[in-house]
Amino acid sequence: MSLIRTISEKTAHVGVIGLGYVGLPLAVTAAERGFAVTGLDIDQAKIERLSAGRSYIDAVPDDRLQNVTAAGRFGGTTDFTRLSGCDVIVICVPTPLNAQREPDLTFVTTTAERIARHISAQTLVILESTTFPGTTHDTLRPLLVQSGLALDRDIFTAFSPEREDPGNTRFNTATIPKIVAGDGETAGALAEAFYKGVVDEVVRVRTTQTAEAIKITENVFRAVNIAMVNELKLVFDAMDIDIWEVIDGAATKPFGYMPFYPGPGLGGHCIPIDPYYLAWKARSYDVPTRFIEL
Ligand SMILES: NC(=O)c1ccc[n+]([C@@H]2O[C@H](COP(=O)([O-])OP(=O)(O)OC[C@H]3O[C@@H](n4cnc5c(N)ncnc54)[C@H](O)[C@@H]3O)[C@@H](O)[C@H]2O)c1
Repeated sequence: MSLIRTISEKTAHVGVIGLGYVGLPLAVTAAERGFAVTGLDIDQAKIERLSAGRSYIDAVPDDRLQNVTAAGRFGGTTDFTRLSGCDVIVICVPTPLNAQREPDLTFVTTTAERIARHISAQTLVILESTTFPGTTHDTLRPLLVQSGLALDRDIFTAFSPEREDPGNTRFNTATIPKIVAGDGETAGALAEAFYKGVVDEVVRVRTTQTAEAIKITENVFRAVNIAMVNELKLVFDAMDIDIWEVIDGAATKPFGYMPFYPGPGLGGHCIPIDPYYLAWKARSYDVPTRFIEL
């Protein structure tokens, strides 16, 4: 049966690599929506917890995990040979910075090499890890070729960024619109079909580079605005003006303004890190990113 059909009919077997804040909610949501999902991680302790029906991610309560496990639609493993039975493989591994504050893509590259060792023909590989524009096309694809299979004929590649907002009870994996792009028309159509089966709204864009740029733009936007409002707080404090009243007043403007609130600064996995991914990549184009770096 063709790959597009197995995906659309949800008979495709899905492998999710990296069962953290991004991977576990995605794996469980895909299983709840009818796919058979294998979760793969190098952390044996996490796999043991999942096998015992105990989640370590707040967004995935134990009962959701236990339900999909009992239905036979989710199981975790550290055995990467299981990738050979997957029709869709989604990569959700970390993308941190190294000691020089440069992108550290080693989690992505070692994962791609592992996939290449076990992947079968007619498989869609999707990168979800946040990264700079060009990673899917220029880094992931060449490593997958080591499998001996042909790109865009046997293996299709796509990028779809994650928009998790840990702690936010208004949205979950299924209700946050999902940006999706493939390398080429067929890969794009396959990725769109897959995510339509998992989330409520899919937003397809033309290239994986664009999808990667969208994610980085969102996080640069957040980083810059948080920094700005913290600076405004210091300025208005000195002037004896209440920053909170200022923001509430400005937020009555129905266009051109979005409220950000002062706080202890940037935190978490993403906002303090991702802007450096773009600044680093921009250097290879000789374009300064003074504003982002500031
Ligand atoms: N946490 C968020 O809110 C969030 C939001 C959007 C995007 N992201 C991005 O998603 C990606 C994953 O982030 P996360 O927060 O889920 O990280 P995480 O640290 O919570 O989870 C990563 C998981 O990957 C596993 N892992 C590491 N190396 C592996 C390998 N080689 N093979 C298999 N598994 C491996 C780890 O054991 C861990 O379970 C990053 O690129 C991050 O920037 C995160």
